Amino acid sequence: MARLPVAVLVSGSGTNLQALIDAAARPTFGAELVVVVSDRPGVAALDRARNAGIPVEVVAWEEHPDRAAFTVAVCDAAARHGAEALVLAGFMRILGPEAIARYPNRIVNVHPSLLPAFPGARAVAQSLAYGVKVSGATVHFVDEEVDHGPIISQEPVPVLPDDDEATLHRRIQAVEHRLLPEAVDALAAGRLTIQGRSVRWS
Ligand code: GAR
Repeated sequence: MARLPVAVLVSGSGTNLQALIDAAARPTFGAELVVVVSDRPGVAALDRARNAGIPVEVVAWEEHPDRAAFTVAVCDAAARHGAEALVLAGFMRILGPEAIARYPNRIVNVHPSLLPAFPGARAVAQSLAYGVKVSGATVHFVDEEVDHGPIISQEPVPVLPDDDEATLHRRIQAVEHRLLPEAVDALAAGRLTIQGRSVRWS
């Protein structure tokens, strides 16, 4: 069966990208990683992509006049490589509505909290500062609001008494590395149906 061509959007270390690369090495995985797009040069995620032989594109945030122009440039970079879906794997920019219009129900994000708790860029630090006993990972479809679209999968991660941001984030990421490839594979196989805010797996 043809694989779903996806673009992976990154900003940093790319451990979730690596999980996708490893998953895509299996012949049964439903998606093909056709390009990795970063909003900044020089990040480790780009090295991971190059090592795996995946084309890379850098769309620098600073080089665009506003969010709309940046969003269109990101979508254009993905489209140049034939991507039919976007996977935000540690992508720390907010895409404008132009992306949702171009990839309706075809954008997936991974987030290091149990949404709707702690949306935004500092979820792990804010979870610790709040004193929660349970954190977790969420994979969800992207809609027009930040960290808000229908939830594909979630899994709790206990907060341990001596956790700092790094130790808790590492345990959450270990869960993300399983949930994100599972979700992308299910999306590619057409096994995810959105009904309002609810995502059904089949
Ligand atoms: C991941 O934990 C991801 O959930 C988080 O950034 C990390 C990137 O790690 N994303 C967000 O906080 C988005 N709001 P990685 O680059 O090693 O995959």
